[in-house]
Amino acid sequence: ASYEFIETSEPRPGVGQITLNRPKALNALSTPLITELNTALLSFDRSPTIRTILLTGSQKAFAAGADIKEMAPLTFSEAYTTSFIESWSSLTTAIKKPIIAAVSGHALGGGCELALMCDILYCTETANFGQPEIKLGTIPGAGGSQRLSRAVGKSRAMELVLTGKGFSGREAYEWGVAARCFGSWEELMEGSLKTAETIAGYSKVAVMAGKEVVNKSQDLGIRDGVEFERRVFHSLFGSEDQKIGMKAFAEKKKAEWTDK
Ligand code: HXC
Repeated sequence: ASYEFIETSEPRPGVGQITLNRPKALNALSTPLITELNTALLSFDRSPTIRTILLTGSQKAFAAGADIKEMAPLTFSEAYTTSFIESWSSLTTAIKKPIIAAVSGHALGGGCELALMCDILYCTETANFGQPEIKLGTIPGAGGSQRLSRAVGKSRAMELVLTGKGFSGREAYEWGVAARCFGSWEELMEGSLKTAETIAGYSKVAVMAGKEVVNKSQDLGIRDGVEFERRVFHSLFGSEDQKIGMKAFAEKKKAEWTDK
């Protein structure tokens, strides 16, 4: 498929990369861009060869937010009746393969929220995160207040949302928002691709189950969450790959996954 605001590639075996590519607007997330992003994500999710998805922007900007110029004239009734922004959540609801966000430069407002929706967040030390919506007379609208609170705690999330002040990639890492931070764009991309490739090398069914159970922890209490995890764990004894993986260990061989 050919896209106007994103680029897709397969930089490593099993790894599908989506690059936000609207450089003149610092990758501002307009509705047409999000539509393309959803199309690309769904197509990677359905692809028999892609096993892990890497979402990135440019060195300068992951994404500088939702498109302010598109939002400026929007009325309440238009936003409400068209479910404005709701389509962004297909990233978290429809996609079963893991998505790694590689964030460099600006990740502001909706850009920060998009990164927070991904399964693993990597960034550069100097990445510029923030929820500056308050400066525009509004608030986060794509889950930022909820996901940030869970990641950094209520008080810090409140401070970020109410002051609009940014936080660095280094801080994102120290606070547990990012799994890793890197000294340069090159290291970020190499590190992200390496992790994507590692995950792509495992059993697809186990990887999807792992993603599902970790994500459930964000919605369920500990008791229901542990029970959910155990049920999914039990179900994996029905997969071929569990037999293959454990037999390979016992025989000191490399597992050859069948994805069954
Ligand atoms: C539309 C944007 C944009 C945005 C930047 N641009 N961010 N257009 N929506 N979110 C455009 C600028 O208008 C400008 O266009 C071009 O990109 C380059 O931006 P500059 O401001 O000239 O670049 P710079 O001086 O380097 O400053 C970078 C910046 C600044 C600090 C990131 O652009 C900025 O503050 N952007 C807005 C960040 C923001 O408030 N994001 C939250 C949006 S609200 P021209 O045509 O002039 O060259 C939001 C709501 C989420 O995301 C809720 C639901 C998802």
